[in-house]
Amino acid sequence: MTADHSSPAANAGSDPAADPRPADPRTVWLSDYRPFSHLLDRVELTFRLAPRRTKVAARLHLRPNPAARGQHVLRLDGEDLRLISLKLDGTVLDLTPDETGLTIPGDLLPNGPFTLETLVEIDPADNTALEGLYMSNGMYCTQCEAQGFRKITFCPDRPDVMARFHVRVEADAAADLPVLLSNGNPVAAGAGWAEWDDPWPKPTYLFALVAGDLVAHRAPFTTKSGRSVDLAIWVRPGDQDRCAWAMDSLIRSMQWDEKVYGREYDLDTFNIVAVDDFNMGAMENKGLNIFNSKFVLASPETATDDDFARIEAIIAHEYFHNWTGNRITCRDWFQLCLKEGLTVFRDQQFSGDMRSHAVKRIEDVALLRARQFREDQGPLAHPVRPESFVEINNFYTATVYEKGAELIRMLKVLVGDAAYAGAIDLYFSRHDGEAATIEDWLKVFEDATGRDLSRFARWYSEAGTPRLNLTETWENGRYSLTFRQHTPATPGQRHKSPKVIPIAIGLLNADGSEAIPPQVLEMTEAQQSFHFDGLAARPVPSILRGFSAPVVLERIATAEERAFLLAHDSDLFNRYESGRALAREMLTGLARGQGDLLAGWIAALAPVIRDQALDPAFRALVLRLPGEDDIAQALHDQGVPPDPDRVHAARKEAGLALARALAPDLDALIAALHDSGPFAPDAAGAGRRALSNALLALLSRLDGGEAARAAFKDANNMTATTGALVALLDIGGAEPELAQFASRWAGDRNVMDKWFMLQIACAAPARVAGLVADLTRRPDFDLKNPNRFRAVFGALSAHHAGFHRADGSGYRLLADWLLQLDPLNPQTAARLSTAFETWPRYDEARQHLIRTELSRILDAPGLSRDLSEMAGRMLAAG
Ligand code: TRP
Ligand code: ZN
Repeated sequence: MTADHSSPAANAGSDPAADPRPADPRTVWLSDYRPFSHLLDRVELTFRLAPRRTKVAARLHLRPNPAARGQHVLRLDGEDLRLISLKLDGTVLDLTPDETGLTIPGDLLPNGPFTLETLVEIDPADNTALEGLYMSNGMYCTQCEAQGFRKITFCPDRPDVMARFHVRVEADAAADLPVLLSNGNPVAAGAGWAEWDDPWPKPTYLFALVAGDLVAHRAPFTTKSGRSVDLAIWVRPGDQDRCAWAMDSLIRSMQWDEKVYGREYDLDTFNIVAVDDFNMGAMENKGLNIFNSKFVLASPETATDDDFARIEAIIAHEYFHNWTGNRITCRDWFQLCLKEGLTVFRDQQFSGDMRSHAVKRIEDVALLRARQFREDQGPLAHPVRPESFVEINNFYTATVYEKGAELIRMLKVLVGDAAYAGAIDLYFSRHDGEAATIEDWLKVFEDATGRDLSRFARWYSEAGTPRLNLTETWENGRYSLTFRQHTPATPGQRHKSPKVIPIAIGLLNADGSEAIPPQVLEMTEAQQSFHFDGLAARPVPSILRGFSAPVVLERIATAEERAFLLAHDSDLFNRYESGRALAREMLTGLARGQGDLLAGWIAALAPVIRDQALDPAFRALVLRLPGEDDIAQALHDQGVPPDPDRVHAARKEAGLALARALAPDLDALIAALHDSGPFAPDAAGAGRRALSNALLALLSRLDGGEAARAAFKDANNMTATTGALVALLDIGGAEPELAQFASRWAGDRNVMDKWFMLQIACAAPARVAGLVADLTRRPDFDLKNPNRFRAVFGALSAHHAGFHRADGSGYRLLADWLLQLDPLNPQTAARLSTAFETWPRYDEARQHLIRTELSRILDAPGLSRDLSEMAGRMLAAG
């Protein structure tokens, strides 16, 4: 193979001058980074817990930072704190904090080491934002990432200020709080108190404290060098029999990180606590991970296979942060992808090793496209390493996490596995104990491999999803592939430059065999051709195998060729991809009322579904129709504003046609997947159940739900239960089953979230808004519980045709509730506002309706910084 390129190298990158957004005075800029004025050697904290008035005494051991000479004042962050006393080296200072902190004037500050003591009072019972110290179900817990520590005590609250922490927790004798936890190792405890010491310097965002009436599910662990660690998962009494899977996942994660990355655990204890009220999935606090209970608790009766897989992945993710995040942390929040992208990549590798790499990759790419591509193609697009933010909590995004992981994956493909391992070792040895940057990360790869990564670095600074266009020629025995790349403009970044794109390919002979050894083409220019000589006949190309780069591949191919690849490609990802392309073309055709590609699609798909030699998990994925949001985006890409009702109808029509085509085989196919033994949450069983549920949903379209009703009665695990329930909800006949489910699980918040979510997800478009309104009137709808709020309003937003009703009822309902939630929990309100990010896709009437709601939100008095930044950014791109 030979390569040539011809490209006018476009001008690079970001051009703030072209940014149409008016500068928000609250904006924080990467370019403004300065080292902190002081070094913080040690933090001693004493908590006297009380629901409405917890006292926090802090002693900070500080000294001037030699790297920050010339900065004379000491600025401590602090919000919503009642300052009781302040002393510097034992002398009382009479200073008054402002809204965001406390400034100690330079003339009061010693030139050498000194201690600063504060006593503050805070109100955890009133903390509905779930940031800082708060209460959930009678227990105390904390969430400090990103900037929650400043709601606990006055302190420099930034990740490059790292300190050793010693913590004393005291509970009132009358309070029922037998378990008192913090980071590090336990050093002493008595009745109503405990002390913890963390030997590893850490930033404030990794601080954690938990106090409550909890029970432990314990296990011992011995690290590869022989150190013993006490593992414990802490839950409310009654939940201890639902911890085994999380513990098993933790042990496998610890072993995997030793084996694959050579990373050992570094404390005597590792604690995980499950809490019901939590804004995100989980948090990697040093030695004391705090989890949303839905990502810890699992039993076959209460958790689906997807839940089991997610628990395994999130336990691994938080554990892996101990090295990628905690031992090596971020210099500032702009570097968030340094820990998140790498840790997501590591958890993806782990899940692939535990299960199936091909299935995991297909699922990860589906998520990347559904969330990250959507974000990258709309008004909220931002680089993997953003250059500014108003509220950092708004940047825990699919771009930082998922695209961040893709960049690491590409690096690994480009340098190769051995060089990747060498670079990672260098990263750990060079930066252990430091707060690092993306430049540090890339430098490690440059030093370890001798490669120049300056062009690769553009992936971190430029937003937007590159479009990769391909043309092929076959002339005189020479086969040529010509690629052109182009990244559309994103808010604030009009001009984009060519990216380094690893393109994994294969060329197939007519019998499906490989005509050349599979290889990775390295594209670096705007346009580039690759030539292949010596082929006997024109091959069928399999491009972007394994989804080797996060780009949109624009390749026109015939349906015959797609069907050929679906049947024959040796790369399972591209087999799936060909099926997906066929389905998209068929569905957009139906939605546009053009042509009928149903028969061709079914003819290509049915043999794969019937092929019992193929992994059922893979067949289930092939069977899954592209979602309505995905079809809407495809229509938009074709230059047509999507009509949500027609998209919905097209998807229904295709499902029914497929059901009819498979009808003679459905019973036998389902029967062949039947599991007799006890439930096990392994990948093979999960694959069989996924396929069985998908086929059951098809069968219900034909038999009026008879088989699904029987399956619901027989179900002995939550995957089977929800599979049958969804099949019935889809055909509009699940009233008795919904009632049974609700009466059986009324006492279980996590299971009831499924009940709320599924009935909205499956409702007819015209019923969605009314159903959501009804469900919010139930006494068990709790605005303060993020899981419940997300179950209801996440389902509303994800119901494409229901949310995008032409009368605007979906938009109005969501906006009303975001405005209600915002004063209580701005972080969660802001996150759910991304439902509106796709507005530029739709017709003018819908655009107007959405923009009206966004303006109504933006104009609301007292709106949070979180939600105002989001609404403002979505409106600005107009
Ligand atoms: N660092 C956490 C993770 O990725 C994310 C997280 C948990 C978080 N809680 C948060 C981020 C609150 C922002 C705010 O595992
Ligand atoms: Zn993380």
